Amino acid sequence: MVYTKRWVVELLLDLAGYASTANVVDAVAVEPAAGEGAFLALMIERLADSCERLGRPISDCRNSLIAYELDDMSAERARTLAAKILTDRGVKLPTAETLAQAWVRTGDYLFDSMCVEADFVIGNPPYVRLEDIPEETASLYRDAYPTMRGRADLYVAFFEAALRQLKDGGVCAFICADRWMRNQYVHAWYKTIDRVTHSLTEKPKLYIADIKDTLEPVLDKGETYPHHNLYYIQSDIWDLEVLGGLLMSAAGQFFVESYGVRMRGGYLRFQAQYLRRIRVPSPDALSKAQTQALREAFNARDKPRATQVALDVYKISPHELERALEY
Ligand SMILES: C[S@@+](CC[C@H](N)C(=O)[O-])C[C@H]1O[C@@H](n2cnc3c(N)ncnc32)[C@H](O)[C@@H]1O
Repeated sequence: MVYTKRWVVELLLDLAGYASTANVVDAVAVEPAAGEGAFLALMIERLADSCERLGRPISDCRNSLIAYELDDMSAERARTLAAKILTDRGVKLPTAETLAQAWVRTGDYLFDSMCVEADFVIGNPPYVRLEDIPEETASLYRDAYPTMRGRADLYVAFFEAALRQLKDGGVCAFICADRWMRNQYVHAWYKTIDRVTHSLTEKPKLYIADIKDTLEPVLDKGETYPHHNLYYIQSDIWDLEVLGGLLMSAAGQFFVESYGVRMRGGYLRFQAQYLRRIRVPSPDALSKAQTQALREAFNARDKPRATQVALDVYKISPHELERALEY
């Protein structure tokens, strides 16, 4: 069994907004697969801090947390840990044990959580292939969770259960492998607005954020996928670091300033239709020195240097560019 590391839990709780500075005492937070309490422990710490900050007794937290765990022994360990966290903070043992008992339930989250409404569902659900679950249980899961189609993994049902039990505005934060993006069951329940071309991920490309005040291309060496108002530029002939240097210069900016739209607040939109209008010379037209200087300027994010070389490449004087940009 893989249990979650502390820093990952901290990160997920932060992302979910489960913070001691908020009032999490009056919220209901669910840990659907508690294991030995990796998430639960930090949730209790934040909950107790929140409670203390509000000047309320810890007994007010009785209904603030629900942790499910199928395995008896793990659940018992999670209870022991929960009680210890409280006693370490000065809570009397009987109160600590009562709370730990109330918080950690031995049971099947997928069956027991159905009538509980939650503000947060946070954790690391189990990743188990349906073939590895006894057929009788698997078919009950399938009946209860329509997203469990084909060869879906158990965590899919955890997502469905979590999303169903969330109140309006509630937050689900799960650790999740990325394989769900490639599986067949994906078409029951997620759809992107733009078409996704998976092969693009591996290709080196320059990223340009849609809304920004200056043109700031960023190199992706073929590790991520551009989405959500992120445009990308690919080239078979350009060294992307050199091209990036040219684009980040004031000359690159000039093209977008000339065609693009400035929004309220002074931000420019770097949409595809404006980016396409940027004219660049053939890479062969650049001298070795210019190529190297642009690459270095790009890597150092040195705009003045990139601009100096770009002016040389475009054969524009600094004065002309300044006037053009002002205009
Ligand atoms: C990947 S571990 C995560 C444990 C813990 N949340 C963590 O992050 O360290 C998944 C846990 O889910 C439990 N589990 C499996 N199926 C479950 C179910 N249907 N309901 C509740 N817990 C379940 C397993 O026993 C295991 O302890």
